[in-house]
Amino acid sequence: MTGPVIGVLAAMDEEVRRLREGLSDARIQRTGRRDYLQGTIAGHPVVVAFSRWGKSAAASTTTTMIERFGADRVIFTGVAGAADPALGIGDVVVASSLVHHDLDARPIIGRFEVPLLDIVEIPTDPELQRLAREAGEAVLLQDLATMIGAEERERFGIDSPRVHSGLVGSGDRFMADAAEIAALRNDLPGLLAVEMEGAAVAQVCYEHDVPMAVLRTISDRADHAAPIDFKGFVEDVASRYAERLIHRMLERI
Ligand code: ADE
Repeated sequence: MTGPVIGVLAAMDEEVRRLREGLSDARIQRTGRRDYLQGTIAGHPVVVAFSRWGKSAAASTTTTMIERFGADRVIFTGVAGAADPALGIGDVVVASSLVHHDLDARPIIGRFEVPLLDIVEIPTDPELQRLAREAGEAVLLQDLATMIGAEERERFGIDSPRVHSGLVGSGDRFMADAAEIAALRNDLPGLLAVEMEGAAVAQVCYEHDVPMAVLRTISDRADHAAPIDFKGFVEDVASRYAERLIHRMLERI
């Protein structure tokens, strides 16, 4: 199989488990305490891995995907907490750009600014963004009803989910305080969602000129209720979303 190699990443094993199971011609290589699975999805050569949580883990895994496994494009999926109150559980978020919301080297440089890159928002690839949005729409319209049962939708409060695109913030903290999220949204107007890896992956890809996209499922509202049911959501809901979103996206590349 020839063509661009697509790196598919998520932070957690559960988020890539279903993808791994559906991989054709799979071969596994282990380095840096991570398993990289090479194979094909929808006819595309892919390398699939889970990075573990946090920005250092994600940056390291992304670098390995690019340098050692020749990833020409990178797609990061998984879950995120809503920062915008208009977002609901089960919504899909496509990052138009990402910010390290915990990066602060003031007074040397501005808050959130990436040293030496002179940017606050790290852009994602416009074409991959478009395909990610289309994939999200297709999953919600065509797959959701069979993918997540009515009982689970009720249990997690998934009600008429939608696709959103905009600014996503990444930091080395699980956000579970409504006041803190409101303050962050004040400092970063338009912030849609928070997670713990995307900006690091975007930064590595930016520095290597590798087109990338981040598409995530909203698992919580980043408030006191965020940790409740988190594991259940990832296992029962997000793992299914990730598998469908990546398939729908790769079908369109
Ligand atoms: N990923 C999913 N929910 C999150 C939250 N509330 N904070 C950080 N990362 C998340």
